[in-house]
Amino acid sequence: MTEKIIIAIDGYSSCGKSTLAKALATKLEYVFIDTGAMYRSIALYFLRNHIAFDDQASIISALHNIKLHFEFNADTQKSDIYLNDENVESLIREMSVSSKVSEVASIAAVRDFAVAQQQAMGIDKGIVMDGRDIGTVVFPQAELKLFVTADPLIRANRRLLELQAVDPTITLAMVAENLQHRDLMDSTREHSPLKQADDALVLDNSHITKQQQFEIALKWALERMG
Ligand code: DC
Repeated sequence: MTEKIIIAIDGYSSCGKSTLAKALATKLEYVFIDTGAMYRSIALYFLRNHIAFDDQASIISALHNIKLHFEFNADTQKSDIYLNDENVESLIREMSVSSKVSEVASIAAVRDFAVAQQQAMGIDKGIVMDGRDIGTVVFPQAELKLFVTADPLIRANRRLLELQAVDPTITLAMVAENLQHRDLMDSTREHSPLKQADDALVLDNSHITKQQQFEIALKWALERMG
């Protein structure tokens, strides 16, 4: 029998981490958790409720009122995130949330709140989780750690295609600026900044297909499953 493992996938914004994580989870029949969706949902709650990002007391009390869970969506064949029982999977991808989420994700209390839930989800292993601090903070003991990278312009063009499906007025310049801003915030913040774990394997997908990327990662995963 093969052993269940934890697969931690980290990297910059719009590198295709979620696509890879989802494909691996489907193939291995593992749980897939998009941790970015958790930070985005918290950001959405803060924006809706006008929580100031520097008001520690309001942040703590807001976090007490936030319940997050994932539910499988048979139509899209992926899990949607629910914020207090409301499906917010589409709303959290809008620019209004994208432009504020890095600030929210840099708040220590927010990270403690999200990380505790992520660690609980991995208790039985058999999980693929993607984010920025999964291999360094959430699961430093993960059997497989991937650090996914891609050329910034290629990433911006990929994200543009996704966003234009929802809002045709979005331009490449807007997307590139948002990605640059998030990369900088994510990698320079004080609490659990994005960084490659010492034992992570780097996967640069600038010039390979999704299928090739998947095959490389799957081979690495199978090697670790015994
Ligand atoms: O992966 P994403 O673009 O949906 O992530 C949204 C934001 O959340 C991004 O700015 C980085 C932050 N994030 C984080 O700080 N830690 C994680 N584990 C996942 C996401």
